[in-house]
Amino acid sequence: MAPSEALSSVVLGPDGVPEGLALSDAAGWNQTADDWRLFVEQGRVFGLRDGDTGPLVATAAALPYAGGIGWISMVLVHPAWRHQGLATALMARCVAHLGALGATPVLDATPAGQQAYSRVGFEDGFTLARWEGTVSAGASVPSAMPADATTVSKLDAQASGCGRGFLLADFLQRAGSRAWMAAGNTGFAIAREGRRATQIGPLVAEDEASALSLLQTALAGLRGRVFLDVPERWASLRGWLELNGFARQRSFVRMALGAAPIASVNDRLFVLAGPEFG
Ligand SMILES: CC(C)(COP(=O)(O)OP(=O)(O)OC[C@H]1O[C@@H](n2cnc3c(N)ncnc32)[C@H](O)[C@@H]1OP(=O)(O)O)[C@@H](O)C(=O)NCCC(=O)NCCS
Repeated sequence: MAPSEALSSVVLGPDGVPEGLALSDAAGWNQTADDWRLFVEQGRVFGLRDGDTGPLVATAAALPYAGGIGWISMVLVHPAWRHQGLATALMARCVAHLGALGATPVLDATPAGQQAYSRVGFEDGFTLARWEGTVSAGASVPSAMPADATTVSKLDAQASGCGRGFLLADFLQRAGSRAWMAAGNTGFAIAREGRRATQIGPLVAEDEASALSLLQTALAGLRGRVFLDVPERWASLRGWLELNGFARQRSFVRMALGAAPIASVNDRLFVLAGPEFG
């Protein structure tokens, strides 16, 4: 179904950040104004507005990474406007935009989204789960080691298969962010503030044992509700999270419209940046 003629297409600018945030808040998502700002500044957020000046009712964001990858996320439709093809239309705009940039569209889909994306040609990659837990800082809190954005970006590029140094640099400079380096600068973990919980990720390490140790260090320095998105492949990490009171909140499948190495789990990427960033 074509989007209603009562709607006007917009590309969100910096002024649209509060409206985008209102939509993700209403859906109970964890993204902050900083996340929306990043999508607007570094990518393109397609939206639909009720009339020419009415409220924003739907969004979808396309964020290009170096290495020919285009991340799609923030597919949100106000409840009153659902089932009219709005998400499908905005997704198509993201795909066309990324195609024009020569980038392969990739996303992390919920099970319901997976069916919708399969219909338009996206293919399944690996599966992952969001874990949720509550932590209280221990008696001796390890101090976060200074994280150098260049080192972190290099490690992330090797692990994620795409260049997104701007994303890591942005996470690192945000108020409330924390970062931990593994010994010998072989890995790192970043935690950033979200609307509902602190989000840990990315976490890059040499192997699963080092990843677990880095995760424990990070958790020891945090307090309150924590979310982290872990590829299902990492069974030891999953086992540890379960034993330590974390609950599986929801599952996702990584999907790509075309060939993309990022659709396979890399040996060094243990916690993702989040479904909105990959
Ligand atoms: C999911 C959502 C974006 C679908 O918006 P929509 O405009 O109603 O979807 P369309 O009419 O274009 O889509 C056609 C069908 O595909 C489904 N679909 C499309 N995109 C989807 C997606 N990303 N996730 C789940 N289902 C999706 C729709 O539910 C719809 O099925 P239905 O009409 O039989 O229920 C909307 O329900 C929403 O904002 N939900 C909350 C946020 C969310 O879950 N976003 C998706 C994250 S992956």
